[in-house]
Amino acid sequence: MQRIRKAVFPVAGLGTRFLPATKAMPKEMLTVVDRPVIQHVVDEAREAGIEHFIFVTGRNKGVIEDHFDRQFELESTLERRGKKEEMGELEDSLPGAGSTSFTRQQEPLGLGHAVWCARELVGNEPFALLLPDMVMQDEPGCLKQMLDTLESLPEKSNLIAVEECEPELAHRYGIVGIGEEAGNAFKVTDMVEKPAQGTAPSNKFISGRYILQPEIFKILASHETGAGGEIQLTDAMIRLGETQPFYGYHFKGKSFDCGNKIGFLAANVAFALSRPDIAPDFRRALNDLIGDV
Ligand code: UTP
Repeated sequence: MQRIRKAVFPVAGLGTRFLPATKAMPKEMLTVVDRPVIQHVVDEAREAGIEHFIFVTGRNKGVIEDHFDRQFELESTLERRGKKEEMGELEDSLPGAGSTSFTRQQEPLGLGHAVWCARELVGNEPFALLLPDMVMQDEPGCLKQMLDTLESLPEKSNLIAVEECEPELAHRYGIVGIGEEAGNAFKVTDMVEKPAQGTAPSNKFISGRYILQPEIFKILASHETGAGGEIQLTDAMIRLGETQPFYGYHFKGKSFDCGNKIGFLAANVAFALSRPDIAPDFRRALNDLIGDV
């Protein structure tokens, strides 16, 4: 089984669901407690042992690149003031020198197109894809669980994280059909993007973490558009599924769709409540607001 060394983070979307916050600031820089959403997702990949972090960015996203760089003025001020804890925080959040790459998707033509833009940086090896809108909470993180699961699957397997939704909400998601069990995973028999109400093959939806084989790039190169006139990743995965196995991994931790307001607010509450340095005071503040929590 080939090692997964590289992870792709598509961050070129416009974030229209979060306007006006995202007019001048990328939605990936919105903070969950005190770290940008993108930092949570990169940390999940680092925990899983990823060595190369590939960001597919667009205009107005330069601050993401800056976030993963040193800030000398700030660091020297912190040092002068003896702020060791803050300095440690900054150091811990920094990926190693030369371990990040940034490429541009000049137009937001869809998630499939954003992934295709990473083809030269990924090369001919399987890779992880993490949608930065989805912030996962579990120990170990979702990607680590997936890489552990991948070890027991056949060569050239693709693996996608899935979660359960209310069956009547399946039409909002990319849904998979469920085949035979394979250790921790199950064979995916079908993938449907936003199935018409009542037609979904299950209530398990694709939740933003993937391990994909590089052959996906050849399929994405056709630039075929699907739902909404966008180049859809799900369409390319369906095609790849004709020649390579796809497995689903049922992620049992909590996930938050930070691309929408409710998910983002819930993520802030959940992550604050899980932080020993913040939880007691935050609980008190919540009690004042809405009663016992
Ligand atoms: P979304 O559709 O959730 O992101 O895409 P969006 O387009 O930014 O959000 P809204 O709907 O306008 O509010 C999922 C992920 O894919 C990336 C987004 O940045 C997001 O992380 N994406 C999407 C791209 O990088 N390029 C695209 O063309 C589309």
